[in-house]
Amino acid sequence: MDTQNDKRDLYTVIDDDNIAWLHFDKQDSSTNVLSASVLEAFYEELLELVERAPRGLVIVSDKPNGFIAGADVREFTRLENHDQALSAIQRGQAVFDRLAALPFPSVALIHGFCLGGGLEMALACRYRVARDDPGTRLGLPEVRLGIHPGFGGSVRLTPLVGALHAMDLMLSGRTVDGRAARRMGFVDHAVPERHLHAAARAMIMDPPFPHRPSKLQALSNHPWVRPLLARVFRHQVSKKAREDHYPAPYALIDVWQEHAGDERAMLHAEAASVADLIVGPTAQNLIRVFLLQETLKALGQKSDFKPAHVHVIGAGIMGGDIAAWCALRGMRVTLADQSPERIAPAVKRAHRLFKRRLKRPRPIQEAMDRLMPDHKGIGVEHADVVIEAIFEDAEAKRSLYQQLEPRMREDAVLATNTSSIPLAELRDVLSKPARLVGIHFFNPVAKMQLVEIVRDDTTDPEVVNRAIRFTRKIDRLPLPVTSTPGFLVNRVLMPYLLEAVELENEGIPAAEIDRQALAFGMPMGPVELADTVGLDICLHVAENLGKHLDTPVPQRLRDLVRQGRLGRKSGEGFYQYKKGKAVKPAPPKGYQPPDSVSDRMILRMLNEVVACLREHVVEEPDHLDGGMVYGTGFAPFRGGPLRYIETVGADTLLQRLGKLEQTLGPRFTPDPGWELVSGFTDEEKTGG
Ligand code: NAI
Repeated sequence: MDTQNDKRDLYTVIDDDNIAWLHFDKQDSSTNVLSASVLEAFYEELLELVERAPRGLVIVSDKPNGFIAGADVREFTRLENHDQALSAIQRGQAVFDRLAALPFPSVALIHGFCLGGGLEMALACRYRVARDDPGTRLGLPEVRLGIHPGFGGSVRLTPLVGALHAMDLMLSGRTVDGRAARRMGFVDHAVPERHLHAAARAMIMDPPFPHRPSKLQALSNHPWVRPLLARVFRHQVSKKAREDHYPAPYALIDVWQEHAGDERAMLHAEAASVADLIVGPTAQNLIRVFLLQETLKALGQKSDFKPAHVHVIGAGIMGGDIAAWCALRGMRVTLADQSPERIAPAVKRAHRLFKRRLKRPRPIQEAMDRLMPDHKGIGVEHADVVIEAIFEDAEAKRSLYQQLEPRMREDAVLATNTSSIPLAELRDVLSKPARLVGIHFFNPVAKMQLVEIVRDDTTDPEVVNRAIRFTRKIDRLPLPVTSTPGFLVNRVLMPYLLEAVELENEGIPAAEIDRQALAFGMPMGPVELADTVGLDICLHVAENLGKHLDTPVPQRLRDLVRQGRLGRKSGEGFYQYKKGKAVKPAPPKGYQPPDSVSDRMILRMLNEVVACLREHVVEEPDHLDGGMVYGTGFAPFRGGPLRYIETVGADTLLQRLGKLEQTLGPRFTPDPGWELVSGFTDEEKTGG
């Protein structure tokens, strides 16, 4: 019996066994998300089902990419105050309460993404069946948006699998596959695709006892145990995120510690806590960053290019890792260098990456098969994308392009990974100069999500679109930038790093400099970052950029490189390294750093950001914030440098910059770009 109704985003089919199959299929969207209107439609559907009294309910998604990816994050930005947020959250809780209270068994049939609100819905079902494959990912990643589960997720997961597993998932925001979810206990069966429907049907036809935690797991929620465990959780979280920057995980621990065991009270506290967090600055900024990421991802939709084969030339640090990453993401890869001996280490590194990421022997072997060493460069003729990653030498690159172009397919993209050479200096050897584009990866490739797509007025826009599409295909985040010195990321990082070197040279302990950058919210201190990048590379980039941007290169950096202190890779740079870890001598007792340390580093960075804005290094101001967060790790909870300027006030920052200029000289001279972000009118400026 088919009783499909006319609702747009979901519908129910009742089969011959009287099982109701409720399908989610959000219209005009490739992914199911729980907007307020979808939740309402779901609620009505549940009410109708109660009337119809089927034998059981199975919730499924019609989307190939997954079950439900979570709440509709865009709606979060429209919440104006705590009360409005609270009523939206409580409404969601009421809908899932209705699901949990159904008088017949319910099963969530999960494939692909089952995240946030999607998993909370599944947890409100009596059973969960997940597809057993690496593409099925379950998790509660709300902390990454500065909140925690609010639709009863923390209330249902903690008693189901115990606090250790539940809090681990919610505090880290990490996702797991179906098999791991079954081991933890919040999925009843993880089965291959072909058994999914039969498994769900069986649970309705012959309902087993719902899953119960082990005694030990149950004990973790006991009132005597909670204070102790809460302390452990807080300690673990504090190693990753400071409470003043990221309050959500701490708030979640409080909710659990105070209310676990009392479902109603915990639901209430969960909703109140999320309502507080969601209208706060951290959540709003993290949501902004998430949406910026979505914007950059969407750039890939401008082209229907479907690259399958990439040819990489240069199997060094970058080329080798780019090739490995592309193979990991499913592309066919040929990797060329001057000799097979130079390719071998890259293949070895690739194997290590595949082992770490893919874990099981068969996918590892398949990835290895996709990565073909090709020292003769036979792949050039077939490739959709050719990436050059040889030495940073314009002449070498140009002569390579001359050999490559006649052999490349007409429609193939020719890309360079250069970090400093303008496209204009490279392309005139080509018969079609407009085809050269920069695809600038960062080191380490597997970790750095951002990729700069470098172009100038000559570059064919379709080539740029193709480069972006390729970047999305390998699951990296494209940031279009102009072919100007340092592009965006290196250009903005450099003054910040160089100021840290100046500070160190003036006698401020390196550990103190790093500590202050961390306190601002950077993921790693600038001194350790310089050591990690390699001081020789820093010097090279600084000299290069210094010429263009009038940035002095500190003598201290030159001295260290001359002494062979190159940073982490040589065992010593600013710090010494023991087993790859920096030894950071603590500042002397009672040491009081000058007030200006943090400002000096951050304001130089911001000054360069507004210069980039003025010079249109990126297409949209928002791209600057996205690029800085994903390319430099700029404190995500601050929402990006431009948002930070807006929050603190451009006039305040300008005044501080002006003071530094007076005492420390022209490297602090405000860039004219501040006018673009300043709230001043011209009159006020001349007056002030
Ligand atoms: P690398 O020195 O590790 O590797 C370069 C490789 O290219 C060597 O294996 C060399 O044998 C090979 N090669 C040189 N000429 C060749 C030719 N004509 N044909 C085939 N192979 C040739 O260099 P790295 O660090 O990987 O840099 C490569 C490019 O990536 C440079 O343009 C660099 O500016 C850029 N880059 C480097 C980053 C880094 O952190 N190392 C970051 C981002 C970009």
